[in-house]
Amino acid sequence: MNSIRCDRTPAWTALQAEFEHTGRGFDLRAAFAADPQRFESFSQPAPHVFADLSKNLITPASEALLLALARQSGLEAHRDAMFGGTLINTTEHRAVMHWLLRNPPLAQTNKPHEAIKNVANELPDVHATLDAMLAYAEQVRADEHITDVVNIGIGGSDLGPQMAVLALDEFVLPGKRFHFVSNVDGHELAAVLKKVRPDNTLFLIASKTFTTIETMTNARSAKAWFEAQGGTDVARHFAALTTNVPAARAFGIDTTFGFWDWVGGRYSVWSAIGLPLAIAIGAAGFRQFLAGAHDMDEHFRSAPLARNLPVRLGLLDVWYRNFHGFTSRSIAPYHSALRRYPAYLQQLEMESNGKRVDTQGQALSFGTAPVLWGEPGTNGQHAYFQMLHQGTDVVPVEFVAVKQPRHTLPGHHTLLLANALAQAQALMLGKVDADGHRHFTGNRPSTFLLLDELNPTSLGALIALQEHRVFVSGSLWGINSFDQWGVELGKVLAKDVEARLASGDVSGLDGSTAGLLAQLRR
Ligand code: F6P
Repeated sequence: MNSIRCDRTPAWTALQAEFEHTGRGFDLRAAFAADPQRFESFSQPAPHVFADLSKNLITPASEALLLALARQSGLEAHRDAMFGGTLINTTEHRAVMHWLLRNPPLAQTNKPHEAIKNVANELPDVHATLDAMLAYAEQVRADEHITDVVNIGIGGSDLGPQMAVLALDEFVLPGKRFHFVSNVDGHELAAVLKKVRPDNTLFLIASKTFTTIETMTNARSAKAWFEAQGGTDVARHFAALTTNVPAARAFGIDTTFGFWDWVGGRYSVWSAIGLPLAIAIGAAGFRQFLAGAHDMDEHFRSAPLARNLPVRLGLLDVWYRNFHGFTSRSIAPYHSALRRYPAYLQQLEMESNGKRVDTQGQALSFGTAPVLWGEPGTNGQHAYFQMLHQGTDVVPVEFVAVKQPRHTLPGHHTLLLANALAQAQALMLGKVDADGHRHFTGNRPSTFLLLDELNPTSLGALIALQEHRVFVSGSLWGINSFDQWGVELGKVLAKDVEARLASGDVSGLDGSTAGLLAQLRR
């Protein structure tokens, strides 16, 4: 695999010139006026997702150069290396194979791609684990005594299942409630424990490593609460989802579902970490979720770059971050069930691509992950959209809307969709007004993703699309999108500070931490 960092390619230099030439002064309104085909050129279907990229600050020429950048950087080889099981997570010496969790058994695959043969030996184990987990999920669904499922996990062991269970609320088995406890702040666990009873509760302890302090602290407290309330059958009321099965056993949990070190935490909703979702929507629903993602994997793996949606989105991310200098992207789901989708994407993109050195450890001279942020769109409209329309910074917005609602309340859905379209339109068109307060500059870019329906299949495809677009920008930037060393330092320091909070010892501490510690002990 021959990857070349994007800033060392001829296309990078050409893009700098292109930006000066047509990028800086580009005007969306003029571009639409000049090209009646613009929507067709910059929109495309992908599996279960339709995307309109036409309201972005790109031209056929700049997109062609971005595609050249991808080719010259070795994106295709890097992608194929991922799909071939190469150890592309070089700092942890691991393969990156969350996609394999969505791959049907080879016997059911029409035309298995060449590279999968390298890792086909993993598939039987993947499917045996999936089958066992889904059988367990069905057992829990059938168990009327279990009314509450409490997932205890953080980061990827929380955000994925939480986002997906909320998103697929319409498909959740009536009579089961789902709770997610991630914060080490005891208020969160205590609030859930007030609502549940030991006999009716299943605790899922979700942790890839089974060492994460927040999760272990919450798990210990939940187990202590369960036993203090007279609960005895730990095997029935606790299950662990982890790659570290021995640690789960040592903790006293015998019901375990494993996965593999080649599944990154933020890519783990497809693994045993997805058990809350499997219980919520059932085995068939979970298989649809995997199948939707697999369809997107196949698209990413095989579609020509110019019609490859994750590639086009990832290239746009590079264009905005490195040439336009935009530092953030706002996520605007026009569906209330997608309310944790922005938080999920924050971990996916910012933990993956928030890196300042390349795979060789060399400092980068260009920006990487933007800040992602957002809320359900209509709520955002009445909060921060003011800044999106009239603020001094340009923030590209990524809309997600759904054609078919699953409720029958008259009028609501048309109004919701009208708002989504109108916001994107207003960002682009702006409005001339002699009164500066009422003037909208317009020319503010947005992408519009459209699902026919929000269901397990389309959600799976949408999430896989996001995973792969993050791969694309990370690959061009030449960084390792699959490690997360940046979370380590704080963890180490917290241990030291915890001991000092007990002892009061401030020796050797910086002045601010010492001062705050003294305040806390006063
Ligand atoms: O601290 C960051 C992190 O390692 C994430 O990458 C991960 O998703 C989260 O913590 C939880 O880790 P674990 O599943 O091992 O408890």
